[in-house]
Amino acid sequence: MNSYLIAPSILAADLARLGEEVQNVVDAGADIIHFDVMDNHYVPNLTFGPAVLQALKKYGIKADFDVHLMVEPVDALIEQFADAGAAYISFHPEASKHVDRSIGLIKSRGIKAGLVLNPATPLSVLDYVLPSLDFVLFMSVNPGFGGQSFIPYTLDKIRQLRKRIDELGLNTRIEVDGGVKTNNIAEVAAAGADMFVAGTAIFGAENYKVAIDEMRQQLAN
Ligand code: DX5
Ligand code: ZN
Repeated sequence: MNSYLIAPSILAADLARLGEEVQNVVDAGADIIHFDVMDNHYVPNLTFGPAVLQALKKYGIKADFDVHLMVEPVDALIEQFADAGAAYISFHPEASKHVDRSIGLIKSRGIKAGLVLNPATPLSVLDYVLPSLDFVLFMSVNPGFGGQSFIPYTLDKIRQLRKRIDELGLNTRIEVDGGVKTNNIAEVAAAGADMFVAGTAIFGAENYKVAIDEMRQQLAN
């Protein structure tokens, strides 16, 4: 099993002070920064594009960015986020006409590639591409908004994929996104996840370091 990565989602940050917020969460111990890209087409909400990632890099953020594309189509934005300096890029398979090609595009830029499974998306979408993925992102809420409740049946999907990854001897990480909090992170890890996105649970906390430390403590138990 890989080491655990905690990925605060900047969707829940104070966007008027984004650079400062991201630096604060990095100083508080975030491993990577989760960057939710929404296009008001694939999902009914609109967030930020590659120019914002570029600006955060210029501001001096040294952490790796985990770009979660909730957009359709995906390929043009993969190129733009690669140019902007993303370290991880994931997309929803139903948003790309040629999933294998989009994965290849991410990897050709030296970026870690992930597919995102919505709560109702079956594991079978991974059948032919799992060995070429660096990570699989499980949505544990329906994509589009922060602050929703964790959908419990996601745990069963995580367990099934963890088993498959271990049987195949792969290094694929499992990331979980949506409703992850101090009181359920241990259960999510026990199911087999090793990357944890948390928006409101971190940026909604009074002290980011305390929130991240509490999560790590849960993971250590
Ligand atoms: C939802 C986004 C999530 C969101 C998570 O579409 O992909 O990354 O920011 O927010 P919380 O942790 O508040 O559920
Ligand atoms: Zn996300």
